[in-house]
Amino acid sequence: MSSLPIPNADAQAHSQQLALLIQDRISQHGGWLSFADFMQMALYTPSLGYYSGGAKKFGVGGDFVTAPEISPLFAQALANQVSQVLDETKGDVLELGAGSGKLAVDLLLSLQTLNQLPTHYYILEVSAYLRQVQLEAMQKCLPATLMERVVWLDTLPENFVGVMLGNEVLDAVPVHLVYKSATTDSQTLCERGVAFNGDFYWQDQPLPAGALYDLASAYGLPDDYLTEVSPEAIGLVSSLGCALKRGAIVMIDYGFSAREYYHPQRNLGTLMCHYQHYAHVNPLIYVGLQDITAHVDFTSVANAGERSGLELMGFCSQAQFLMNCGILDIMSQVSPHDMARYAPLAAAAQKLLSPAEMGDLFKVIALGKGLNQALIGFASGDKSHML
Ligand SMILES: C[S@@+](CC[C@H](N)C(=O)[O-])C[C@H]1O[C@@H](n2cnc3c(N)ncnc32)[C@H](O)[C@@H]1O
Repeated sequence: MSSLPIPNADAQAHSQQLALLIQDRISQHGGWLSFADFMQMALYTPSLGYYSGGAKKFGVGGDFVTAPEISPLFAQALANQVSQVLDETKGDVLELGAGSGKLAVDLLLSLQTLNQLPTHYYILEVSAYLRQVQLEAMQKCLPATLMERVVWLDTLPENFVGVMLGNEVLDAVPVHLVYKSATTDSQTLCERGVAFNGDFYWQDQPLPAGALYDLASAYGLPDDYLTEVSPEAIGLVSSLGCALKRGAIVMIDYGFSAREYYHPQRNLGTLMCHYQHYAHVNPLIYVGLQDITAHVDFTSVANAGERSGLELMGFCSQAQFLMNCGILDIMSQVSPHDMARYAPLAAAAQKLLSPAEMGDLFKVIALGKGLNQALIGFASGDKSHML
């Protein structure tokens, strides 16, 4: 932790303002706040939270790099999947959590090339600051004929037809921390929350009977085990399922099936923070300045989808999905002899596909309603049976 870059004075003042708000909230809650509430405030407090405040987050000069920021190749391959569903449904696109707007720009340009433009490209973004970033990026990169299709929404639409998608959105949804202690007492499930005594610090409370207890105890956690549970992510998937009348929901993120997620050896959970390309595990510092994220339990995503009337259409690694969507064909349109164009493409493909980089850890899940065709992205290597 000592090697983390030190924020400048402005950033520290910004963080201090948010820390005071969180301290107030902790006092109002009797001295203890669930980590999910802490994470919600740290990331999304208007103007002050990490995603709601004004520092650069994505790409070089930010805190982390996401697939759409690496190369348009990602969007170009994804466009083939989106295009298939739009062809069948004649629907629209709804992107959740559009970040810098890069995926939206490249997807719209690719869908235009494929002659499969949706009437509307909706964006649902919780951060007012990022909406502005997206608007500016898109105005700069898209012609008016594409720009006029883009609409920012405040809430999920009803009876949506088409494709809903989100890249690295579920990992940014608040999680509860659950700790199973090493005693044999049956009341050993605790919720790990945040208290304050000059600094934020961890404090465990017995987990009372209720929905969170039921969720956490269903995994049969080993003793002395810390993990995350996200009813909020489950709720988000259920809401998407209810809003979708016909089409597909495609979510891309790092994570595992429940069996791997709650594996006995993963006894410290998956919570991570990112600050200026340093990854570390302490979310209680640099509040509002750093990203906080947890891996996604794709089994609970699939189950939540199925409970809200969706069918699991596929689950596989990002590498498999992008190859099924034709990423290698897209690359082959550039000659390897044209080194100036081919070398960056090959480097990007390596990052997106290599098992040592994003290829294996990142997964793609698709949930659908009323579709007749199997999705091309899962034609080979579908691992739905692992969920
Ligand atoms: C890690 S960033 C990913 C951004 C972008 N999709 C990318 O791949 O670069 C997470 C994004 O999800 C947004 N977000 C988080 N929770 C959301 C929700 N419930 N609905 C819509 N957007 C959400 C954040 O504001 C942010 O834009």
